[in-house]
Order: sequence, then structure tokens, then C-alpha cells
Amino acid sequence: QEPAAPGAGSVKQQISNLAALSLRATVPEVDVEPIVEVCTGKFGDYQCNNAMGLWSKVKGSGTSFKNPNAIGQAIAKNLPACDVIESASVAGPGFVNIVLSKSWVAKRIQDMLVNGIKTWAPILPVKRVVLDFSSPNIAKEMHVGHLRSTIIGDTLARMFEFSNVEVLRRNHVGDWGTQFGMLIEFLFEKFPNWEELGSQAIGDLQVFYKASKQRFDEDAEFKDRAQQAVVRLQGGEEKYRAAWKKICEISRNEFDQVYKLLDVQLEEKGESFYNPYIPQVLEKLSSQGLIEESEGARVIFIQGHQIPLIVVKRDGGFNYASTDLAALWYRLNVEKAEWIIYVTDVGQQQHFDMFFKAARMAGWLPDPKEKKFPKTSHVGFGLVLGADGKRFRTRSTEVVRLGDLLDEAKSRSKSELLQRLTENGKIVDWTDEELEQTSKAVGYGAVKYADLKNNRLTNYTFSFDQMLSDKGNTAVYLQYAHARICSIIRKSNMDVEELKVSGNISLAHPDERVLGLYLIRYAEIVEEACTNLLPSVLCEYLYNLSEMFTRFYTNCQVVGSPEEPSRLLLCEATAVVMRQCFQLLGITPVYKL
Ligand code: ARG
Repeated sequence: QEPAAPGAGSVKQQISNLAALSLRATVPEVDVEPIVEVCTGKFGDYQCNNAMGLWSKVKGSGTSFKNPNAIGQAIAKNLPACDVIESASVAGPGFVNIVLSKSWVAKRIQDMLVNGIKTWAPILPVKRVVLDFSSPNIAKEMHVGHLRSTIIGDTLARMFEFSNVEVLRRNHVGDWGTQFGMLIEFLFEKFPNWEELGSQAIGDLQVFYKASKQRFDEDAEFKDRAQQAVVRLQGGEEKYRAAWKKICEISRNEFDQVYKLLDVQLEEKGESFYNPYIPQVLEKLSSQGLIEESEGARVIFIQGHQIPLIVVKRDGGFNYASTDLAALWYRLNVEKAEWIIYVTDVGQQQHFDMFFKAARMAGWLPDPKEKKFPKTSHVGFGLVLGADGKRFRTRSTEVVRLGDLLDEAKSRSKSELLQRLTENGKIVDWTDEELEQTSKAVGYGAVKYADLKNNRLTNYTFSFDQMLSDKGNTAVYLQYAHARICSIIRKSNMDVEELKVSGNISLAHPDERVLGLYLIRYAEIVEEACTNLLPSVLCEYLYNLSEMFTRFYTNCQVVGSPEEPSRLLLCEATAVVMRQCFQLLGITPVYKL
């Protein structure tokens, strides 16, 4: 990897670079990675925690250091002189507390305002990522689980893209498998003129799926035909391929509507795409002696698992696992991805665990302990629950239609907005178009944020009332907070654009300093969210930032004060960072509410 330009990367990264230089000067005989953390105490802003670990390495080796504290003192003293650090002191057994220079913090914020938030992109140790997300199954329901996968996956993609990582957004749709025999036969039976039909004519595919399943279960003769249809489809017979294509197309149209609503980009490479690669991939694994015969199936035995991974079924057909192995092979060797990330519910954890292990046994991936690329990760998430604590369903249908759900969020937020604007007489200031756009941004944003703010592994309860409340940690609250900052800036007579270039940020008041320090942590937050694949980290940051802004705004007068030019720039910087957080979360910010 190219050495980073000075000043590039997160603040934590920059402090780590300085700490690394100090460590090399302090204990040249040991090679250690700097351990740098943020600290929120009153003694410093960042902390270097290497002294204790180093002590246990050097004590008894004739070192001149008497104790870990002495090592800490030396680390503090050896930090290179620079404009980043104001002072460093040592606490307890050797914690090195680092205080950042106020003028450096202010300059970093001002630079960002002039050159754009992209200059705050973290530097990640990876260049190309495959992100496998959304991935619904053709003709089956696109359920709330797929909504979670879509929202979480899209946010991860946006965060990596912001960090200058190339992301291959892959929709691994379930477009292959035995259910197609039944669907195709049912299509022939129900719609003899299926070739001429537009996608609307067949109507709801889920209903179609259910009806064909019923037919399949009830009629042995139909079942027989369906099973033969699978064989003919897989044999590449023209008519069957055409019917399969038609069904996929109808499904695709439905999915695309949801993606459009959610503003999510995806490239479909479904299971069928990898099908031609399966034989050669299995052949390779076989020649390595990894595949064995077991009860008529072909399987891979994996340490720590009772049951083996089935890669060829008893009937000779391939399955989910063989497809995933071929897809992984393709992603590693053809697409040359360094990190392959799968977003599905936690229920699939065992599947991923097993097939990742199989890939390691085949030597495709290094041992995770080595912390090297290429690597694979499963981003699991919990269930969406209804108010009754059971799996989320709506009253009218068995399943939750994503489109309806987003519509409802929008119309609810619209009526609340209307009511409020009418009450305070502001409705006259709004055009219909503005009302519509704002309710959409607020409503959709609320659904996304409610999903993203939780640790993804926990189940969460879907509640419109909660997610659309303007109090607490909700998107609505955050939209208000952002709009309020925008209105402060509008109220001032000063020109922010001009101030960015000619003005100066000073962080004299303690609440200004706290806000400034938190702003410049943005890059390391994105870095952490990417590294640990946790969008909730970004949500937490966004919420804390708005709380810190409130504290600043309560204690520091902006408009009409002598400090107005500087404080206005802090307002603008907060708004810019908040907007960028919204952007990464796939939420459209609003400027007036
Ligand atoms: N279609 C699958 C499902 O709905 C998810 C696919 C996830 N991706 C993968 N490569 N296995 O459960």
C-alpha cells in the first residue's frame, strides 16, 4: 500500500503514526503496533496504551526502565514535535494522555469546510470489496429480512465507497433451484399464451407461487411434470429457459421498485450465474481430497461441525452451498476481491461458518488469526418483531410488503408535518412539492434509521409510533436537529461561504472545543464502522453529535454574538458532517422542518 499523505486518514490514525515513531525511539529493540484509543477523561483526548505491554516484554532483559510508568514517560517525551499535539502526560501505570492542539483541531475543521468532507475519508487497508446483500428469492416473498439486508448492506457499501474502496454490490438472488419446475409448469397451465404476456398480466408472483405450490402438493401428476421440467430447464431446453427468464423478469421488476424507493443500487448476479462454474470448482476440491461420499451425497466434513457440508445432493443436483462455493471462487479469482461480505439473517450463520471453513481447508483463504486478506465475513442480523413480540407481519397479508410499509411511513410523517405546520401557521410557507419531498425523506429515513441504529445482531421491534417520534434517538429527531442548524445559518446576516475562506474558527469555550473534537472524529468512526461492519456505530455518532451541538448552542450564543463568525463555521461544519452521516445511512437530509 502507498504511504499515506501527511495529514491523511483519521485523527486516530495520525496519532498512531506519531506514537509509532515515539515507540521506535523509546524501545528500538521491540517491534510493536501502537495502541491508541480515544479518551473522554479530562486528562487527554487520545491515549497511547503501549507502556504496560512493553514493560512485560522488556523487564528482566537488562532494560534501563524501572517500571511501566517510566516507559510511559519516555513515550510521552519522544512524541515528535508537531502542530497536532499540545501536550502529553502520563497517568497511573503508564497511560500516555495526549491533548490535541486547539488550533490544529480548528484548522482541520476549516480545511474540511473549504476542501470538502471527502478529505475526511479514512484510509482502509482494502481496495476491493464484494458486498453480497439484499439477495431475495425469485417468486418467493421479499420479506422484512430482505429489507434489513438491503438497508444494512447499502449502508456498508456507502461507507466503503466514501472511504475510497471499490465496492461490487452483488444481488445474489435465488433464481435457480427445484422450485422453478413447479413454477414453469404452472405458468404453462395457467397462461397458455405466456410468451405474449406482459409482466403485469400474471399479477402477484407470491400468490402465483402459493397457488403453484398447492397444485404441486395436491396433484401427483403435476408434481411429476414439475420434476421433469427441472431436468429440461437444467438441460437447457429453449422453451423452459424462456419461461424461467419470464418468471425472473417479473420478480426483478418487483424488486427493482423497492430498490428505487429505497434508492439502493445493486448489480444482479444470481445463483444461476455461478451454476456453470460449480462442476470445475467441485472438481478442484475433489482432487484435493476434500469431498467425500456420504449416504449417497457428496459432502465436505468440517472440523467442529457434527454434520458435513453437502455439496452434491443425493439426486445429483447442486445446492445453496455448492453455489456459494463457486461464487466465492469467482469473487476471489475473477473479480479479485479482497474482502467478501455477506449480509443475511443470523439464522444462516452455520452455513457461512461451514463454507468459509471449507474454503480455508482448500487454501483459498488464510487463517483468520493471521488477520490477512483475502477474507470473508458474514454480517448477521436479528429478526424484525411486531408489537406482539412475534415475527413482524401486517394484518391484511401474511407477509409485509415493503412498498406498503414505506408508503405508510411517508403518509404518517406527512400528516404529522401538516398538523404541526397548521398549528403554528407556517403551512403557507410550504409548497405541495416540498411537503411531499420532506415527508418522503422523513418517513423513509425513519424506517432505515430504526433498523440501523440497533446493534444488528439483536432483534428489533417494528413500531411506526416509535420510529416517527421526534424525541429520542430517531431519524425524525435528527432531521429536526439538522434543519435547526440550517435555520440558524439562514438567520445570520453573515455569508458562510465567504467565512469558510476568510474567517477563523476558535475553540475558546469548553463546549466549542468538545464539539470540535467530536467533529474531527468523523473519519475514525467511519473507519470503525467499516472495520467491524457495524452501521450502528455511525448512528450513535450522529446522535451524540447532535446532542453535543445542542449543548454548544445552549451555552454559546451564535447569532448576534462577537464570536458569530467562528461559531457560524462550527454550525456549518456540524451540518456538513450530519449530512454526510445521513448520506452514508441512505437518508435524505431536509433543510427545513
Ligand atoms: N437468497 C438467500 C435468502 O434469501 C440469501 C443469499 C445470501 N447470499 C449468499 N451468497 N448466500 O436467504
